[in-house]
Amino acid sequence: MGMKTMLLLNVDMERPGIIHDNVLIGFLHITSKGMRIDQTVALGQDRLDEIIADLNRMKDEIPALFQQLGAELPMRHQHARTSAIIRSLPATEKRNIQIGSAEHVKPGFLNIDTWPNSGIDYDETTTFANLDVRLGLPLDDASAGFVYSSHMLEHLTFEEAKRHLADIHRVLWPGGRLRMCLPDVDKTAKCYAARDMAYLERMNETFRFLGYMPKENRLYGDLMSRHILEGCTHKYFWDAENLEAALAACGFQNIQEAPYDTSIDQAVALRIETSFCIEAIKAY
Ligand SMILES: C[S@@+](CC[C@H](N)C(=O)[O-])C[C@H]1O[C@@H](n2cnc3c(N)ncnc32)[C@H](O)[C@@H]1O
Repeated sequence: MGMKTMLLLNVDMERPGIIHDNVLIGFLHITSKGMRIDQTVALGQDRLDEIIADLNRMKDEIPALFQQLGAELPMRHQHARTSAIIRSLPATEKRNIQIGSAEHVKPGFLNIDTWPNSGIDYDETTTFANLDVRLGLPLDDASAGFVYSSHMLEHLTFEEAKRHLADIHRVLWPGGRLRMCLPDVDKTAKCYAARDMAYLERMNETFRFLGYMPKENRLYGDLMSRHILEGCTHKYFWDAENLEAALAACGFQNIQEAPYDTSIDQAVALRIETSFCIEAIKAY
């Protein structure tokens, strides 16, 4: 990549955006005649020349970027299709939402997950929608009474998570409740600091990472990284303090840590041991 020019892959734009000196200056088209820039801000010829020189320097990387973008587009179209189906569901079936359910679908909930990639599966009591929440929840404002999310938020970057929390706040009705259950990074960090190899090994064994970790790289740092980043699918560390602040910034109130509750949280010993839970209310 050039020093000043970068390409931004954003599924909303359908074309890579061109960032120059931290400003989105337009979009990139590749045609049979070469590259074309669709400018969204007026630029002097000097800056344009600089950008074209940068783009030429990164020419080899551009096809791969377009390929990556192409892979994201079907997801966007699927999102549009699934969103239309969700919009057509009766309001009563969208009052309880579970985000990032995986296979743990809850009866009486609208369960949402990017996985499995099989579209919506609807029955009388349980709805599963295959949806990427980063593209927004296709739900009306103030339409849900309860949103539940377990071990999901940490799979988003900080910016994605903040947008997602604001989106949850939007769809909850006044007095509606959010419950989140997340990995207890604080506990893991303390075990790391205490050189608690047994705990770290047990966690890694559970997630079956140990098997493919090279024997010489099963040290505290390796075990900590594997566990805490869960094979690099985790993108942000939340603890009670930073999550409370993020929720408050979205307008949530009565934010407090809540005890693990197996009537809603998974009744699995490992989860009980390694999670913390937070609840928050949308103000009246
Ligand atoms: C660690 S699993 C947790 C599954 C279940 N909630 C539990 O507590 O065991 C995280 C889930 O979040 C889903 N997920 C991650 N990013 C997502 C996104 N952007 N939109 C919807 N689901 C997402 C993943 O597909 C995965 O099923």
